[in-house]
Amino acid sequence: MIEKNESVERLLQVGIALSSVEDLDTLLDLILREAQELMGCDGASIFLVEKNKLVFKAMRSGTYFRMWGEEKTKATFKTFEMALTKNSIAGYVALTASALNISDVSQIPGAEQYRFDPAFDEKYGYKTVSLLVTPIKNKKNEVIGVLEMINAIENGKVTRFSGEDKEIAESFSSQAGVAILNTSLTEQLREANFDTIFRLSVAAEYRDKETSNHIKRVSYYARMIADKLRYCTEDCSLIFWAAPMHDIGKLGIPDSILQKPGPLDPEERKIMEKHSVIGAKVLKDSKVPVIQKSKVIALTHHEKYDGTGYPMKLKGLAIPAEGRLVALADVFDALTSKRVYKAQMPEEQAIKIMKEGSGSHFDPEMLDCFLGSLDEVREIRDKFEDKPEDFDKLKDTGNEDLGELLK
Ligand SMILES: [Fe+2]
Ligand SMILES: [Fe+2]
Repeated sequence: MIEKNESVERLLQVGIALSSVEDLDTLLDLILREAQELMGCDGASIFLVEKNKLVFKAMRSGTYFRMWGEEKTKATFKTFEMALTKNSIAGYVALTASALNISDVSQIPGAEQYRFDPAFDEKYGYKTVSLLVTPIKNKKNEVIGVLEMINAIENGKVTRFSGEDKEIAESFSSQAGVAILNTSLTEQLREANFDTIFRLSVAAEYRDKETSNHIKRVSYYARMIADKLRYCTEDCSLIFWAAPMHDIGKLGIPDSILQKPGPLDPEERKIMEKHSVIGAKVLKDSKVPVIQKSKVIALTHHEKYDGTGYPMKLKGLAIPAEGRLVALADVFDALTSKRVYKAQMPEEQAIKIMKEGSGSHFDPEMLDCFLGSLDEVREIRDKFEDKPEDFDKLKDTGNEDLGELLK
């Protein structure tokens, strides 16, 4: 454990560190790491309150990490839910909103409402002695979670947590609370953004009688190839989220062309091809990386490797990688999926067509990588298979149950 002055200083630093984390899992792990260090304890775990339940979210443990390593420990202590009642220690702290400092869990007086559950200790051969459990609150002072610190260690031996530890832990928990809420909000906003992107993309594809599964499959195929080609994680995920917008420009193409049953004449084809430029115009000038990436994809997903594509007749590596990736994924998906107007092509035939396009339509390296991963390709295709009802989802039947939509 560290000295008091030092710990105030440390708390300030911790607050800054916590506020810079954007993803919740990383944040929870950092909170536990800091809690272990600040309190000088063997283990720490975190519960969050979700829909009137306590959900075990994450843990760190000196003993288990030494015994099993971090990965196995985390895989063993997976998330679980428990009832939010005063019978458990974490539940008691959550419901009373006040911290508990228990010097020996085997000596909890019978008059107390809460009890220590020895199930995990018995199962895995651990011995919990001292516990310091603090509520994690939001700005309105509502409890959003519980932080448990397990077995204070001094000179290599398990000891009790001091009153000072409790004070520090309470300040630390309130910092953790602010950070958890900020991160959850950031995650929610990110999710809302992506959800909006996805739904708009569905609207664009729907007019072309595509299903929402089409854009999911294209996104997954494109990310799979990017991942196999060892693009960095950030690029893989940008491509994944940008790919759905490849045909957003179809919103600007008249129905008479987009939904024409027969083949298009040269004039109509020219108009149809404008969807790539329209899409890029809709998406241009954004400061958001995923939209910038989607602009490039919208503009270049019909370019061909040999320079015979549109709209710019770019050739080979002059076509941005994300455009080459989506071109491949989009064509393969169009070939292998069922449409209202066409049956599904057998896989072997589709692969044959794709291979014929190697170096002319498609980037050969990307194509090799794609065709070398057919098991994963099939997995994606099966997961997002079109069902008959998917084709009718947005159809105006004239007698909708609007009450159902309101729900
Ligand atoms: Fe397109
Ligand atoms: Fe498409």
